[in-house]
Amino acid sequence: MDSTLRPIAEHELDAFALVPAYGFGDRMPLDEHRGWASHDLDRTVAAFVDGEIVATGRNYSLEMTLPGGATVAAGGVSWITTRPTHRRRGFLTEVMTHLVQDSRDRGEPVSILTASEGGIYGRFGYGVAAQTAAVAIDQPATITRVGANPGTLRFVEAEEAATVGEELFDRMRHTRVGAVSRPAPWWGDEWAPQDWVDARRRFDVVYEADGRIEGYALYSVAGEWPHGISQQVATVRDLVASTPDAEAALWSFLLELDLITGVRMPHVPLDSPVPWMLSDHRQFRTESVRDGLWVRPIDTAQLLASRTYDATGELVVRVVDPFLHLEESEGTFRLSVDAGGASCERTGRDADLSMTVDALGAILLGGVAPSVLARAGRLTPTDAHALTLADAMFRAEHQPFPFTWF
Ligand SMILES: CC(C)(COP(=O)(O)OP(=O)(O)OC[C@H]1O[C@@H](n2cnc3c(N)ncnc32)[C@H](O)[C@@H]1OP(=O)(O)O)[C@@H](O)C(=O)NCCC(=O)NCCS
Repeated sequence: MDSTLRPIAEHELDAFALVPAYGFGDRMPLDEHRGWASHDLDRTVAAFVDGEIVATGRNYSLEMTLPGGATVAAGGVSWITTRPTHRRRGFLTEVMTHLVQDSRDRGEPVSILTASEGGIYGRFGYGVAAQTAAVAIDQPATITRVGANPGTLRFVEAEEAATVGEELFDRMRHTRVGAVSRPAPWWGDEWAPQDWVDARRRFDVVYEADGRIEGYALYSVAGEWPHGISQQVATVRDLVASTPDAEAALWSFLLELDLITGVRMPHVPLDSPVPWMLSDHRQFRTESVRDGLWVRPIDTAQLLASRTYDATGELVVRVVDPFLHLEESEGTFRLSVDAGGASCERTGRDADLSMTVDALGAILLGGVAPSVLARAGRLTPTDAHALTLADAMFRAEHQPFPFTWF
């Protein structure tokens, strides 16, 4: 089937959005999500057959924080769909080829995404770099940590929540490995939109200390009242704290709300301190752990030289890119880390570790140890010493976590 691939123009946005509506079974009201839908329109790609859009995809221009705090430009792949009438004919493959090459042409060293399913993106060179946990805490669990600075909490309405959220998130993301930027036009209609939940049930609270906002939580309250007894639950969409005191105060506030039985949060970092702050550790129930951020290295040398490492040493890494064989991704690289920092360049030496580009994406942020991937048969070391050194070097200061879902 002959198809052409090209970005869409503004007037084609409705036709473009129809494909994700068919694919996901959800018609997004475009007018309420204009900032999200029309952002970076020149980086959209549509596959046309007989003048009709049959597959979609796009890159958002984002930034991702590496271990050590440096940020790199990242193409954020989103809006991936093929019309259910046209599936399994290679349209996704065409779209992914275009999007990775678009990132490469723009000098983005990495392509990233958050996925609807776990089986789609490995073949395109993406590895699971960060995981996410869905958690539930029931009352009467309470927070025992008492903040050094008690601070104050106050409710804000939607518009203020977007302004406050944007400023705080942008400050915080530089301190968290794997954090992904949230472009300004997304705030009003994607992060703090009016309709993420029935407006009647949506609440936003901020935490301030010394006149400065240090945390916020966006949450909703919903549930039945059987026999007049509230079984409502508070669901947290977004909770960002720039200090441990802010995190403790926000969780304490949520857990002590009246007329709820507990708190749910669908995305929590794996190394959350919250269970360790609770009166009863067992009340922090991890209901699922799954893939969070998928990372596909494009410029291997640039990425490896841009992060910091937990140990000094030298490793020769061979990387293969079976999907696109990109010149910048593939090859043998010498990574050297000393007190002065990291450097990475091509070498003719034998490799200490060999892996495909998706495995490099998985270890890049320190979310999984190279030795775990070796045990899974996804990475091959020449000897045990190289693997021990790789484990020590690639560790990061936090479990990586994107905070941003796109
Ligand atoms: C996922 C989706 C985009 C695939 O599109 P498609 O055009 O059918 O994909 P392709 O024909 O290019 O398939 C490429 C390869 O991926 C495989 N593949 C496609 N979808 C897959 C899935 N959901 N799980 C596992 N493998 C999948 C195909 O079998 C094919 O493998 P092969 O090369 O070994 O034959 C499409 O099914 C869809 O729109 N799904 C609903 C929306 C969605 O989940 N989008 C992803 C958002 S993150």
